[in-house]
Amino acid sequence: MPRDQLDVLIPEDRLQVRIRELGAQIRKDHGDAPITCIGVLKGSFMFFADLVRAIGGDVRCEFLGVASYSGGTRSSGVVRITDDLRAPIEGRHCVIIEDIVDTGLTMDYLVRMLAMRAPRSLRTCVLLDKPNHREVAITPDYVGFSIPDAFVVGYGLDLAERYRNLPHIAVYTP
Ligand code: PRP
Repeated sequence: MPRDQLDVLIPEDRLQVRIRELGAQIRKDHGDAPITCIGVLKGSFMFFADLVRAIGGDVRCEFLGVASYSGGTRSSGVVRITDDLRAPIEGRHCVIIEDIVDTGLTMDYLVRMLAMRAPRSLRTCVLLDKPNHREVAITPDYVGFSIPDAFVVGYGLDLAERYRNLPHIAVYTP
C-alpha cells in the first residue's frame, strides 16, 4: 500500500514560537482577569494544551464536542453539539480555541450559540486560518498562521482520524 504524501508546512519549532506569542497577547488583552478557554474538539486538543500554558494566570478549561453532519472533508455548516460546556459562562471572559477556520461556518455557529449565554467577552483564537475559503464573513481575533487552500494534517488535525499526533502541520497531497 503506497504511503500518503505529507510535506511539512509548519515545523514544530515555528508552531511553538507562535503559540507563545499568541498566549502572551491573549493574557495581555485580559489583564489579570480569569479567562475561560473553550477548546473545540477534537482538532484543537493539542493547540489548546500548549496555548493555555502560554496564556498563564487564571485560566479555566472547558471543551465543546462538535461534529459536522457532512462526514466529508468539507463542513456542512450544520453543527451538532455532542458534548456541551460543563460550566456556565455568563459574565466570564471567554476565548474559543479552534485548530482551523476554513469556510467559517463552524466558528460562526459557535460564536452565535455562546453569545446567547451572555459571557462578559467572547473572543476567538485559531491556529490556522484559510481566509480564501470563507462562506461566511468571520475574522478570528487571534490567528496563528494564515495558510493556503491545502488539506493540512497534524498537530490535532486529521485525515480520517489519522495524523492528529504529528508534532507539526503537514500538507496532504492525495
Ligand atoms: C474542523 C475544525 C473546525 C472546522 C472548521 O473540524 O476543527 O471545527 O472543521 O471548518 P469550517 O470553517 O469549514 O466550518 P472537523 O469537522 O474536521 O472535526 P474534528 O475537529 O473533530 O477533526
